[in-house]
Amino acid sequence: VMIGSARRVMGWMPDRLLPGGGVPDPLIERRNEVGRATSRLDGPLKVTGRAPFVTETVMDGQVCAALVYSTITRGRITRLDTRAAEASPGVVLVLTHRNMPRLGIVPMPGGANLFAPGNSGLPIMQDPEVRYNGQVVAAVLAETQEQADHAATLIEIDYAARPAATRFEEAKADARTPASILIERNHVSIGGAERRLSGAVHRVDQVYRTPRHNHNAIELHGVTAAWDGDSLLVHDTTQLIAREARGLATVFGLKDEQVRVVSPFIGGGFGGKGLWDHQIIAVAAARVAGRPVRLRLSREGVYRIIGGRSPSEQRVAVGADADGRFTALIHTGYTVMPAYGACPEQFTMGTRTAYRADSFELLQRHLDLDIVPNTFMRTPGETIGTFAVESAIDELADAMDADPVELRLRNLPDRHPISGAPFSQHALHQAFVDGAARFGWDRRTAKPGERRDGEWLIGMGCASGGFPYARMPGANVRLTLRRDGTVEISCSAQDMGMGTTTVQAQHAADRLGLPLDRITFTLGDSALPASPMAGGSSQTASIMAAVMSAAGKLRDELLKLAGPDSPVAGLRADAVTLTGGGVTAPGDRHDPYTAILARAGRDEVTVTATGAPPLEFLKYTMHSSSAIFCEVRVSEITGEVRVNRLLGSFDCGTVLNPKTAASQLRGGMIMGLGVALTEETLFDERTGRIMNPSLADYHIPAHLDVPDIEVIWTGIPDPHSPLGARGLGELGTSGVAAAIANAVFNATGTRVRDLPITLDKLL
Ligand code: MOS
Repeated sequence: VMIGSARRVMGWMPDRLLPGGGVPDPLIERRNEVGRATSRLDGPLKVTGRAPFVTETVMDGQVCAALVYSTITRGRITRLDTRAAEASPGVVLVLTHRNMPRLGIVPMPGGANLFAPGNSGLPIMQDPEVRYNGQVVAAVLAETQEQADHAATLIEIDYAARPAATRFEEAKADARTPASILIERNHVSIGGAERRLSGAVHRVDQVYRTPRHNHNAIELHGVTAAWDGDSLLVHDTTQLIAREARGLATVFGLKDEQVRVVSPFIGGGFGGKGLWDHQIIAVAAARVAGRPVRLRLSREGVYRIIGGRSPSEQRVAVGADADGRFTALIHTGYTVMPAYGACPEQFTMGTRTAYRADSFELLQRHLDLDIVPNTFMRTPGETIGTFAVESAIDELADAMDADPVELRLRNLPDRHPISGAPFSQHALHQAFVDGAARFGWDRRTAKPGERRDGEWLIGMGCASGGFPYARMPGANVRLTLRRDGTVEISCSAQDMGMGTTTVQAQHAADRLGLPLDRITFTLGDSALPASPMAGGSSQTASIMAAVMSAAGKLRDELLKLAGPDSPVAGLRADAVTLTGGGVTAPGDRHDPYTAILARAGRDEVTVTATGAPPLEFLKYTMHSSSAIFCEVRVSEITGEVRVNRLLGSFDCGTVLNPKTAASQLRGGMIMGLGVALTEETLFDERTGRIMNPSLADYHIPAHLDVPDIEVIWTGIPDPHSPLGARGLGELGTSGVAAAIANAVFNATGTRVRDLPITLDKLL
């Protein structure tokens, strides 16, 4: 809402209000460490076992927790007998709604609550009510995990069940139409799209379905919480260290400085590692028991109480004129988001910027079901939205005998198709052309089912993907330059495995004109300056902006300290650069950092700084995009689909580190492969219960499912972002499911419109 309307209000905003005054970041031209394929600096720790998962941290006197989950969906606990559990060996405490501390109110300002501390607005063990199937109803603390797990099975609970809303189809009757999705108006209706569709020369009009998906980070959710008097120390695996600390302070009525959240290593996040019930229960249990508590969810526990991606039903209709230019683009449908959930699955978001069209109709409706609160899951919205839209465009290409790449190129926008705001940088055309050439798209046969290798039908497909640029406000860093010429930069940032530490050190090295080995970047602790969550592919740019500000402050400090004997004495800040390990000005004027500090008799200089407000995306449409190409083999006998080749061609601004970037993009594409072929939460609509809460029954791609994945990019810097970078943690997933579905159609002539594409749908 805020950003959507701000963009309209601030269309007038002059360039000088943007960071850098509308001038491209000059560091783009001075890249040295940035752009190198530097291996992750924390890599050796990871491969030698020195980067522990959070619940491997053992606190003195800690007890282990096990949770009990409701087996009904809605109702009330009528009998709760904990006596056997309490008498079980090693048990220290059984916590239920009867003895759970009263919690502070978690603010839930309705709808999208990016700024609320928790993922859910539901009370946590505050009453005997059950609101979804799998909700925590009791926690057991014991000396060992085995004792806690066993005692948890001894708790007897009777419920009075009430009818629950669990059926997608039935809930459609009461669908809500929120005024906004996360950052845009929900309903876009321009140019009479239905009318234009019915008059179109060519058209498709189809319904696509995507299932629920659950989070499966390799590191299970887990937490260790300890009180020291009224101070709280929490070891967690979390994507939002600073906000979690604030959230826990709110819930437990503490001052910010009484809470410290530590999370130096995170074994994957993907949107699921937020503040959920288990951290709050662990903190409460530690308070009641008077001992540190370790609470690690089982894999099943993650399915029960950590939300995932919502299911969707999407209508996509595309009308085109005789030349294939889109006259109507309609994307509407349903997804699930109960009022207590935090994440609208904004599948129509990407459709606002993907293609030009003469008319648009975009609208999504939310269904209230009694389910675990849904949340962000990598590339929320675009992952499933592009499946529908990019499948429909492939159907249109087939119907009008057009090449699917050509048809897309004909409809690429040259500005925001709806607001008219200019792109900051947008080279999807080039990404398509480069990708098609590299992939050998010209070897594709237009007619399905014409290429085969024995029982295997072979097909090629393509799709486009996209993901918006985001930079969060409130990124703070502390920067210390020491007399020996080394620098330490710190903030509460998160490294979920994508290389935050490494690329930030590379950036800081170039920003300060130092070699990489002089830089230490420290993160993962709420005691450090607060920085935004790792999410929305925004963290890298957010922190870079803060480092930019810190470098400016450092330069100002150094000019003051340099003194009259300095080669740069008397120069203004804008006349110098931080290069070559010191302050530099034209005419061979250079004063090394070490010399400045030595002359000033200083051991170190410390500055703290906040990133400039992210105004750039109010003025520009800032958006990364991709062209995905895929070749599949489909067995005519079994219906088995094997992805043979997968190529992603990306337009995502400056690539800061080709190694970590390619790894991120490839990982995202593998997730897209899972969305296409394997991932599906089996939700029993009769009982409201998730039936496959394990990696044995919920299928994510294994190594043998994943081909060599090629990743290329245009590498064109974005002139309106720090260092020209735009973030790529989520971009890789976008469009992949459609590229695979389109390849399956090209191989077999069968169009699968409901994911995943399992073999039964191809026989
Ligand atoms: Mo991502 S779904 O913003 O972790």
